[in-house]
Amino acid sequence: MNDKPTGIANNLTNYGDRDFSLYLRRSFAQSMGYSREILKRPVVGIAYTESGFNNCHRHFPEMLEAVKRGVLTAGGLPMEFPTISLGEVFLNPTSLKFRNLMSMDTEEMVRAQPMDAVVLMGGCDKTVPAQLMGAVSAGRPSIMLVAGPMMTGRHHGERLGACTDCRRFWAQYRAGKVSDDEIHEVESKLATTAGTCAVMGTASTMACIAEALGMMLPGTAAIPAVHADRLRAAEATGATAVRMIDANLTPERIVTRESVENALRVLLAIGGSTNAVIHLAAIAGRAGLSISLDRLNELSDTTPVLVNLKPVGNGYMEDFFAGGGVGALLRELKDLLHLDCMTVTGETLGERLGYDSGAWIDRTIIAERAKPLEPQGGLIALFGNLAPGGAILKRSAADEKLFEHEGRAVVFTSLEDLAARIDDPALDVTADDILVLQNAGPHSTSAMPEAGYLPIPKKLATKGIKDMVRVSDARMSGTAFGTIVLHVTPDSASGGPLGLVRNGDRLRLSVKERRIDLLVDEAELKRRAAEPRPAVDKPSRGYAKLYAQEIMGADEGCDFAFLKPR
Ligand code: FES
Ligand code: MG
Repeated sequence: MNDKPTGIANNLTNYGDRDFSLYLRRSFAQSMGYSREILKRPVVGIAYTESGFNNCHRHFPEMLEAVKRGVLTAGGLPMEFPTISLGEVFLNPTSLKFRNLMSMDTEEMVRAQPMDAVVLMGGCDKTVPAQLMGAVSAGRPSIMLVAGPMMTGRHHGERLGACTDCRRFWAQYRAGKVSDDEIHEVESKLATTAGTCAVMGTASTMACIAEALGMMLPGTAAIPAVHADRLRAAEATGATAVRMIDANLTPERIVTRESVENALRVLLAIGGSTNAVIHLAAIAGRAGLSISLDRLNELSDTTPVLVNLKPVGNGYMEDFFAGGGVGALLRELKDLLHLDCMTVTGETLGERLGYDSGAWIDRTIIAERAKPLEPQGGLIALFGNLAPGGAILKRSAADEKLFEHEGRAVVFTSLEDLAARIDDPALDVTADDILVLQNAGPHSTSAMPEAGYLPIPKKLATKGIKDMVRVSDARMSGTAFGTIVLHVTPDSASGGPLGLVRNGDRLRLSVKERRIDLLVDEAELKRRAAEPRPAVDKPSRGYAKLYAQEIMGADEGCDFAFLKPR
């Protein structure tokens, strides 16, 4: 009898008669048609996230077959299991609220079920961080496999990709430059294949980060969802998972202070999504590491933007793949990276970068170090009296003319207030004002939605105004652009100074000084802080209650306090 505690015998419940438990488990496994022989193999679990509510994962059945092929060929037994899936646009109030729930589901199912390693199949924005967080906490050998990006569509001879172009057309529609008929036509051309958003949004950013961290096979972040290489990557991922078992290559050996810094470098060099700062803090947090925003600024000042993709540049993920992908980028950044970091293949990052070094690179998409798109990184952290715990600005997506700007605050106290008044012709607002949104942070009932991209008020949009300084404790879609200060911490719902801003106050943004300040004297702020705040109904049951009790700030990755390692 094979009672080695691996494979199907792994993680066996033991109420006294271990052999009986094993006999029972094998008999139920055999009811699925497995032979006794194959049940002796090590088991590779596959965290499977296909869902009718997740368009980005609709090709997962085909990818799953390829993963299984790889596992079987390498001598393992593949067993997929479902977890929660998060389709970005189908979740209310926001997918972020459920990222931690998905991470808990992933962690517990990886730990509870008999598997020796796990392939994490994810892709859409929150799924990759949720799976990586869960995997780090679960501590089994784990390898990420992403969905890959969508292909672009076409409209009147122009390429379109979700969702930077979605926003561009919508802004033109709001400004009266695109008709009802055309916006309907565009709607069906923005997202035309399986896969994640076609630009360097959050999903693509997290895919690049997973590869840079060493948690995913080299060269696989940017392969389009529908490309045959994606299936080959899936097969290779399955085979690699089997090899990771013998090497006991657990996430704690891969997710380290150094690999997290590598991931931050890549985030900066791709002009990636602001959301990734939160997700990376959460993933690192599960390994007991924290990300200092001061360190982020140091890295940002010394990391050039090299990748020319929307929303910051011109290309799409399919161009990044064809142009060399993450491997080419890492080679450009080589002297800035920690090369001794371990990866899922058992090689260090430095070893991995040793081969393919002569591969062709599309220099319109991946710039040389000597000729960067921007000399400094895409993201910076701001401090100042409005954001003592920090805030994030994507300077590569912002209008340089607004980098040093003082203006009058036009305050919206909630998402509802914003929706009710932003297009009101009577709204007292000019292009020099600073739009402020309160109560949209992690501690608010809206759970930090991507509402930080406040629309330009219609009366200004129709006059051709395209950008204004906007400040909130919310997030912004990775596909959006503008001079937008996000993740103001502490958030207004947890008593942060953002909640003390009143209409007509002066605010000052200084990118040079890395500050966002409320120009109101201390005594007046104290007086405002002492004013009674409107009572908010606390959720009394279920996940919402857990969320309200445990949620931490953006600086802690919006993870739950009780999920931090002891
Ligand atoms: Fe899934 Fe954009 S909606 S990645
Ligand atoms: Mg997104």
